[in-house]
Amino acid sequence: MYEFSIDARSKADLYRDLLAALDAVTASEPDGVANMANAAALLWEYLPDLNWVGFYRLIGGELVLGPFQGKVACIRIAVGKGVCGTAAATLQTQLVADVHAFPGHIACDAASASELVVPIVKEGKLRAVLDLDSPLVGRFDTEDGVGCEAIASLLAARI
Ligand code: SME
Repeated sequence: MYEFSIDARSKADLYRDLLAALDAVTASEPDGVANMANAAALLWEYLPDLNWVGFYRLIGGELVLGPFQGKVACIRIAVGKGVCGTAAATLQTQLVADVHAFPGHIACDAASASELVVPIVKEGKLRAVLDLDSPLVGRFDTEDGVGCEAIASLLAARI
C-alpha cells in the first residue's frame, strides 16, 4: 500500500505533492502502461471536480485510448480532431473553459463541460496526451495547466 502526503491547501501545494508522489511511484517501474495507470488513479483521487482523467497514446499516427478513470471513452481520435487531437497536432496545452464552444469537441461523456489536454513529448516527439475533463465550466486555470505540464514532463521518460 502506498501512503501519500498530499497538501491541497493551494493548487501550487497540490501539484507539488502530486508530482512528488508520481515521481516516487513511477521511478523504478519501466512499464509505461503501469505508470500511466497509477498516474490516472492519483490524479483522479486528488484533483477535485473531474469526471474523466486519462491518457491517449500516439500509436500508428493516431491517438489510442490508454489507462484512465471515468466513464468508457472514445477509443481512437485522429490527430487534429477534438481537443485531444488539437493538443497532439500543435504540441500545445489546450485549456478549454467551455467545451461546447470548442469547434469539433468530441463528447465522450455528456457531463464534460471543461477540459485540459497536455501533450507528452519525449525528444521532440509526441508520445501521448494527458486529458482531464470536468463537469464544471471553467474548472481549469493556468495553474492547472502548469501543474499538469510538469506531470507530463515527468511521465515523458516513464511511459
Ligand atoms: N473530449 C475529448 C475526447 C476525449 S474524452 O474527453 C475522454 C476531445 O475532444 O478530444
